[in-house]
Amino acid sequence: MEQNLVPPPQRRNFLMIMLGGVGGLLAVAAGWPIFRFLMPDKGDDSAGQVKIGRELVQPGSSHFFQYLGRPAVVLQPSPGKFVALSAVCTHLGCVVQWQEDQGQFLCPCHGGRFSEDGAVVSGPPPEPLETLPVVLEGDQILVG
Ligand code: FES
Repeated sequence: MEQNLVPPPQRRNFLMIMLGGVGGLLAVAAGWPIFRFLMPDKGDDSAGQVKIGRELVQPGSSHFFQYLGRPAVVLQPSPGKFVALSAVCTHLGCVVQWQEDQGQFLCPCHGGRFSEDGAVVSGPPPEPLETLPVVLEGDQILVG
């Protein structure tokens, strides 16, 4: 008859450590998708400029696009003047909407309002929308 070489308390500790390790791995595996959903993508800093056809942004109108993996918007508040902004609200990160009739951005989540240049007009947003560099090149608008 073979003897048990590991005393019971040590075997119990070993099993508890193994179960804890497996439980920890399962918790990380289950929590990773939730973490990625809650944390916005910072984007790839090595990405270049975004080119947008000038005809897509008529005076008073806006054009939404992705810049470095995040929502952004370019608009022409007055003829020949182009403004590019992050479209991510600085309160809790909702995507703002352009309201052409009011000349303002509205955040649908908590009613935050921003002016055409991204300044906070009203509501809970603590900071203006991030301004993005914009340059005109022929019939193209270059953002970034
Ligand atoms: S997320 Fe925009 S006002 Fe709250």
